[in-house]
Amino acid sequence: MVKINVTGEKKVIDQQSAAQRFLAERGIRYDRWDIHKLSSAERNEDQILKAFSDEIETLKKEGNYLVADVINIDSKTPDLETMLEKFKKEHVHSEDEVRFTIYGSGIFYINKDGEVFSIEVEPGDLLGVPAGTKHWFDLCQDRHIIAIRLFQNRSGWTPYYTNSGLDGKYQPLCFGPAYIHNGDH
Ligand SMILES: [Fe+2]
Repeated sequence: MVKINVTGEKKVIDQQSAAQRFLAERGIRYDRWDIHKLSSAERNEDQILKAFSDEIETLKKEGNYLVADVINIDSKTPDLETMLEKFKKEHVHSEDEVRFTIYGSGIFYINKDGEVFSIEVEPGDLLGVPAGTKHWFDLCQDRHIIAIRLFQNRSGWTPYYTNSGLDGKYQPLCFGPAYIHNGDH
């Protein structure tokens, strides 16, 4: 279940419908796919793409996405920190950034016209950040994510950095499974 933290307002949104509405109002796609279509033993790219082939095909048609692949990064990934340095600086893309989380967790920060909020994604969460939206990404404490990526451009993931320095002002704090809703929002 996705969790949104609107930093400036000290507001947390962790209810499915409220999260979807908040993101839709800001032009960000959020949906849930049935993660149980995949058994816990099925972790390789072919198995993952096959399990979600119907959803991927539908999404490709909707968004003119040409290619789908699977990214799998964890603490054993060579040069993990170097890779994360590229992700965690504020940037934009000339195409949508579409990710479906299979395993693990991660945190996207979005800077939507000056309103900054984080979106913590977990297995089953589909997130679509539109082209041109300022954002950055980091792993959560478990340092592991497996996700399907969809691309409109076969050349793949190209970041254009804003060099705003805004990313350095936010800690990549994920609530994680231990997070307990405190009922005051
Ligand atoms: Fe990105």
